[in-house]
Amino acid sequence: MAKEIKTIGVLTSGGDAPGMNAAIRAVVRQAIYKGLKVKGILKGYNGLLNEEIIDMTARNVSDTISKGGTILYTARCSEFRTLEGQQQGAEVCRKHGIDGLVVIGGDGSFAGAQKLAAQGINTIGVPGTIDLDIACTDYTIGFDTAVNTAMEAIDKVRDTASSHERCSIIEVMGRGAGYIALWCGIANGAEDILLPEMYDYDEQKLINNIIANRKRGKKHHIIINAEGIGHSVSMARRIEAATGVETRATILGHMQRGGSPTCRDRVYASIMGAYAVDLLTQGKSNRVVCYKNGEYTDFDIDEALKMKKSISEYQYQVSKALTV
Ligand code: ADP
Ligand code: F6P
Repeated sequence: MAKEIKTIGVLTSGGDAPGMNAAIRAVVRQAIYKGLKVKGILKGYNGLLNEEIIDMTARNVSDTISKGGTILYTARCSEFRTLEGQQQGAEVCRKHGIDGLVVIGGDGSFAGAQKLAAQGINTIGVPGTIDLDIACTDYTIGFDTAVNTAMEAIDKVRDTASSHERCSIIEVMGRGAGYIALWCGIANGAEDILLPEMYDYDEQKLINNIIANRKRGKKHHIIINAEGIGHSVSMARRIEAATGVETRATILGHMQRGGSPTCRDRVYASIMGAYAVDLLTQGKSNRVVCYKNGEYTDFDIDEALKMKKSISEYQYQVSKALTV
């Protein structure tokens, strides 16, 4: 029979994402509601190895649902990629009486949770990343806030690009994935969207498009460039030289990761955090909480990490059609 869960741990790992605090709050309060104790592990797997562990009460998470970042801090930890690191992590959990651990983060953090599960610690992953690049789930905590932040910033760049009749290349985050770029491209009515999953690196096509749009009377030309393609500054220089159209590059950077989470992020994070606790109390381990086809559900981490996610060809085609 599965050991009864009495104390659970929670940590955030990898890049922070708006809504992580709402997820932590939900884990803490759902656990307390169910009569469990909760320990917060600071600075991701680093804090686990260094035993930076604090007791969490319902009051610790008061006034946090609207705050960006993560109150538990986050980090990347190369030591945790080694077997010794993972064994030590499991040992620390046992020493502190942590029977189950909720890991809020991205794919990398789930790989860490998978390794801890193999060391006998019940683990549940909650998808927290602005990149939306986790294949098993249609939603990741932080994406909605990040795209809205980027969209508002791009609107502002567009105002000045129009006034000066310029071309503007705006680089958005997403690591190797183009979801933020695609959504902003559609939401901001960009003339071109460069996605790592689709871009053919044919810069001449881009140049021809800028010249053709200029002839059609368009006052600005907005190019949303995904971080996975990058090199926006040098691209701007080449485009200006080839088209004669003044071109500027703006890299939005980490401002996309901050700020108060949107309603959508707060709600998804709250349900997913509570769901993670429910999985642990049902004796489950090595699972990831997901939102798939309109339902909250969960997947085995091994399966989840093997899944591949692709950008919708149809959405990309629509984005192009709408810029004629
Ligand atoms: P994300 O969770 O956002 O994808 P990272 O890929 O940086 O972010 O991973 C966060 C942390 O998860 C890493 O710093 C490391 O501690 C842990 N991690 C990543 N991959 C593995 C792995 N294969 N095995 C064990 N731990 C891992
Ligand atoms: O995964 C979230 C993310 O913001 C990516 O979009 C980006 O590539 C990366 O993290 C940046 O990481 P760092 O904060 O270490 O610069």
